[in-house]
Amino acid sequence: MREAILLVGGQGTRLRPLTIATPKPMLKVAGVPVTVHQIERLRSAGIDRVILGTSYRADVFAEGLGDGSDLGVEIVYAVEDEPLGTGGAIRHAADLLVSGPDDPVAVLNGDVLSGVDYAALIAGHVAADAAVTLHLTRVDDPRRYGLVPTDPHGRVLEFREKPTTPEEIVTDQINAGCYVFRRSVIDTIPSGRVVSVERETFPELLAADELVRGVVDDAYWLDLGTPQDFVRGSADLVLGRAPWPGHEPADALVLEGGSVAGSARVSAGSCIGRGATVAADAEVVGSVLLDGASVESGARVVSSVVGADAVVGATAVVEDAVIGDRARIGSGNELRGGARIWPDVELADTSIRFSTDA
Ligand code: GTP
Repeated sequence: MREAILLVGGQGTRLRPLTIATPKPMLKVAGVPVTVHQIERLRSAGIDRVILGTSYRADVFAEGLGDGSDLGVEIVYAVEDEPLGTGGAIRHAADLLVSGPDDPVAVLNGDVLSGVDYAALIAGHVAADAAVTLHLTRVDDPRRYGLVPTDPHGRVLEFREKPTTPEEIVTDQINAGCYVFRRSVIDTIPSGRVVSVERETFPELLAADELVRGVVDDAYWLDLGTPQDFVRGSADLVLGRAPWPGHEPADALVLEGGSVAGSARVSAGSCIGRGATVAADAEVVGSVLLDGASVESGARVVSSVVGADAVVGATAVVEDAVIGDRARIGSGNELRGGARIWPDVELADTSIRFSTDA
């Protein structure tokens, strides 16, 4: 058996209010939960058993994914009473592994869309007999991330905290949130307490002169942590920029039961959820409408997420915003620049109109 642990226990605070009811990995990008996108790619790479390390809203995973038979893998659940951090969660999930001490175990952050070749990553790890192999990705602006410099042979040299000065930017390589562990290494992580892999586990392995490898590639990679990246990830899947086996790239994706009026425009990778509606003359650009959402006539939704059963009233404008489930944005309102509306909130219609020929 080839096993993987998915870390899906975070609270997803940056994606509130979407994550109040649904944990981030179960939010749908291009109509499919992030975790399902990951499991499908893992299965293609030969993984047949997945341990979900859950904590926040653990029930939602069990309800949505069950024992994994619909996805062609076996899923088991390691539920933390208190969040244990990335390392603590891996150690906790290890109690459910069936792999032997020398077997490779893949570990994925549950909020990343990635085109990395998992099978090649695992094969390289085994061939090098490494303690841990990390997938690294290059970013244009490394200031937001911890950095992972490697030597010319791919050996990790150190784990650096987020740089604060230009001199500290020693590389553009960052931890992509995908690892292969030798199983026996997981068993050395202390159990029953909070542990961070980046701050504790990996630096300790380096100090003990264990082989920690970093594999850098140019595969698609996106962390879906912020609303902006969440909508971008969904659009990239629809447009065919992010890997999605079997999907035909399109300018927009209208899921079963979704409807778009003839005079409406949906574009730039927008996803119109099940039963969602876009009325006459409305425009939806690079956005996600969750199931049952409606955009009324003449409204404009750009780079935003509209929650399940939420309503954007006629002629309203919603740009770079997140609308919670069942909220109602009354007609004529404008929401821009990172606005977040909590579930069930109602913004009254506004009758204020601006003349275009003033
Ligand atoms: P923010 O609150 O918005 O930062 O999101 P987050 O809670 O998901 O945190 P972060 O993005 O740093 O987490 C990276 C990945 O690790 C996500 O897939 C989380 O679900 C997961 N994760 C973070 N902390 C824990 C934990 O304590 N336990 C488990 N099981 N998973 C965790």
